[in-house]
Amino acid sequence: MLEIESPASPQTIDLKDYKIPDYYIETVDLHFELGEKQTTVRSRLAISRYSEAKAPPLVLNGEALELLSIQLDGQVLDKKDYQQNPESLTLFQVPERFTLEIETRIYPQDNTTLSGLYTSGGNFCTQCEAEGFRRITYFLDRPDVMARYTTTIVADKKKYPVLLSNGNLVAQGEEDNGHHFAKWQDPFPKPSYLFALVAGDLARIEDEFVTRSGRKVALHMYVQSHNRDKREHAMASLKRAMAWDEQVYGREYDLDIYMIVAVDDFNMGAMENKGLNIFNSKYVLAKPETATDTDYENIEGVIAHEYFHNWSGNRVTCRDWFQLSLKEGFTVFRDQQFSADQGSPAVKRIQDVNHLRTYQFREDAGPMAHPVRPESYVEVNNFYTMTVYEKGAEIVRMLYHLLGPEGFRQGTDLYFDRHDGQAVTTDDFVKALEDANALDLSQFRRWYSQAGTPELRISRAYDAEKSTYTLKIKQTCPPTPGQPHKAPLHIPLAIGLLDSQGEDLPLRLAGETTAVTGTRVLELRQEEEAFVFHDIPCEPAPSLLRSFSAPVKLYLDLRDEERYFLLAHDKDRFNRWEAGQQLAVKIILGLVKDYQQGKPLVLDSAFIETVGRILESDEPDQAFVAHILALPSEHYLAEFMAVIDPDAIHETRCFIRRSLAKALQELFAATYQALTKTGAYRRDPKEMGRRKLRNTCLGYLMELDEPDIRSQCLQQFNHADNMTDVIAALSRLVDIEGPERKIALQTFYDKWQEDSLVIDKWFTLQALSRRQDTLARVQELTHHPAFKLTNPNKVRALIGAFSQGNPARFHDPSGKGYGFLGDYVLKLDPLNPQVAARLVSAFNPWQRYDQNRQELMKAQLERIAKTPQISKDVYEIVSKNLA
Ligand code: PHE
Ligand code: ZN
Repeated sequence: MLEIESPASPQTIDLKDYKIPDYYIETVDLHFELGEKQTTVRSRLAISRYSEAKAPPLVLNGEALELLSIQLDGQVLDKKDYQQNPESLTLFQVPERFTLEIETRIYPQDNTTLSGLYTSGGNFCTQCEAEGFRRITYFLDRPDVMARYTTTIVADKKKYPVLLSNGNLVAQGEEDNGHHFAKWQDPFPKPSYLFALVAGDLARIEDEFVTRSGRKVALHMYVQSHNRDKREHAMASLKRAMAWDEQVYGREYDLDIYMIVAVDDFNMGAMENKGLNIFNSKYVLAKPETATDTDYENIEGVIAHEYFHNWSGNRVTCRDWFQLSLKEGFTVFRDQQFSADQGSPAVKRIQDVNHLRTYQFREDAGPMAHPVRPESYVEVNNFYTMTVYEKGAEIVRMLYHLLGPEGFRQGTDLYFDRHDGQAVTTDDFVKALEDANALDLSQFRRWYSQAGTPELRISRAYDAEKSTYTLKIKQTCPPTPGQPHKAPLHIPLAIGLLDSQGEDLPLRLAGETTAVTGTRVLELRQEEEAFVFHDIPCEPAPSLLRSFSAPVKLYLDLRDEERYFLLAHDKDRFNRWEAGQQLAVKIILGLVKDYQQGKPLVLDSAFIETVGRILESDEPDQAFVAHILALPSEHYLAEFMAVIDPDAIHETRCFIRRSLAKALQELFAATYQALTKTGAYRRDPKEMGRRKLRNTCLGYLMELDEPDIRSQCLQQFNHADNMTDVIAALSRLVDIEGPERKIALQTFYDKWQEDSLVIDKWFTLQALSRRQDTLARVQELTHHPAFKLTNPNKVRALIGAFSQGNPARFHDPSGKGYGFLGDYVLKLDPLNPQVAARLVSAFNPWQRYDQNRQELMKAQLERIAKTPQISKDVYEIVSKNLA
């Protein structure tokens, strides 16, 4: 391994070292004086010893704090009574129960890390998960220390008329010199990561929700006043989520007030602080002119996600950060279920699986691969990953499949009941489901501890004489860092067998007396096993892994006719789509080979005909049709190549799109016309589906680069009454050479320059452009006045989009894209290490590329590793890449 000078070999935290805390904090009284340059924080903690051991030292976490004073039971402590270092404060002698009063000074206005207390748009806000509270005051900053908080905020009344914290407002009033104060009390004990404070000049919208037991909950949403016309959708989504959680999980909200604040500078999507959620404004603000249908869906999903955390996360929380998926995996599953119930379940599943297979599979196959319950980390912020969130949600979904809806609900009821008010583990979660269902999930638990994407290799055999059909299944899982050998998993495999009419055959396994009609779930447990179905009258078409019932890669040698048949007939809509994707993957990979060998590319005519038939079909779910017509992403295709060739993938994929457009031009044009809007703008599943399909047609037509089509596209861009149609048009125009591109980009900028979230879209579309000069343009845009390195949304919109979403240009064989990313990782790291670490992760799959690219990426990783003062965050990613 490479010699890395700095930081002085950061410490690794291991799950196996977990110990219950020596001390607990029962109550916390916080007092903030918010100033223009500095803020003082006084905290009074009621602490009691837990451990049997004789008075162990009390070690409080603290970072970037100026300590002003400490008193223990009213006595001012002297320097010799404690020891201070950059990350902690140690008191050597403390009684069994005592009160500790600490005063610290912090500088929120200079806090660019966006962790702890900081300012955004002139307002104060906090972000404490995972370890931000220690940047506010000295504390036992770990989730298994749960305390009751009282918070008093004092600030200038004119500048900060709104003062918020968790729980209920219990007092407020004026002070001299133009200051005012508010005092909040949260009756629920909580870990420090759920603490929140907001102070600022914000516009409020009020609403109300009546819970099923008849309690009235005030709903307050705060945004900067220029965004006041964009709050409706988030509020309506919140009310739907509250009602849904009562109906589906029997969970009622528990405080009298629920607040949401939108801020522009935020490292993540949103944060579930008790009673006071803080959101990235991207996941709150929407109106049809500025937000796309996708934005609307994302807002609904994130609003629901944070709301659902009130039970899965807050009432029952995590014992330690290795258990992060306890709250995140479960809550993602819950928000996925909720969104599925709001529209088309098949489309929602397709989107989620696409996302998982494109990004999580990639993570699970690279140097950062880790189990859903990781065993060690250097910086916990690096473990807010696709694996912990999305694969974690897939684990919960598998449990749902194994237990069935009722059994699952009994399990979650027991879980919430048993662990209310506690900080627990993923194992406690599984145990509750197990106990409620009298079921053995011991083998299933391996899903939490084993990294890597399992692979299923399936062969089938039909015996006409005996009327039996046999599925032989072999499961394996590739090695991942630290885990060379894997044990077999307990995998629910949902299947159906189709007869020649496309109907599901009744399924009866050997030894069973009755058959099951429709989908049935096989439970795999062995490395190799066989399932024999009886009374199968003719050779069926197998529909396996229905609804993607497990996060695995499936290898099954279907014939093309079988895939076409499943695409047309499968009762499982997810698998209809999947059959089409498999056909496309096969065709593209075949052409990639031809491309690499310099052979002429020819597109299979059966594929073209099928696409034509799908376009003409009368399938009512038009969003579903649009998904079938979409080719697999370049990232997903890369997953199938031993050595990733980004140019070949890109060129081949474009060739197929162009060929389809040429062959089916009239059909695409006619469909585009037929789907023209009638009536006023609406945003319901039907209209969203119509827009999606229509814009899919436009996308194909624009592959032809014909002047008429270009002007039609520009027409749509100019006259659309909603952002979905505008973005669909602009995203095609940015690829072309013609004058329409410049005109459209300028028009868009001029129109929306005051709207920061819309300008993010403008950055992203340019970063995703296929054009050869994209990198140069992106570089230029980093100097644009609207671009700010301190704003994570801007960084993600431009640099993130380019490096993670434009493989063809990022992986330019010259290495220029890599150098650009390296530069920005180093520029950003001193300001915001969390976001810098996310950026550098674009290099994670570097060993999957050809020699030349590997060397170029490695050079950037080494350059970053050698830089003095690099953050723990970036260090961890880079060193794992170079290990
Ligand atoms: N807990 C937040 C969520 O998933 C995500 C988050 C993590 C936000 C860390 C900020 C910091 O809902
Ligand atoms: Zn979450």
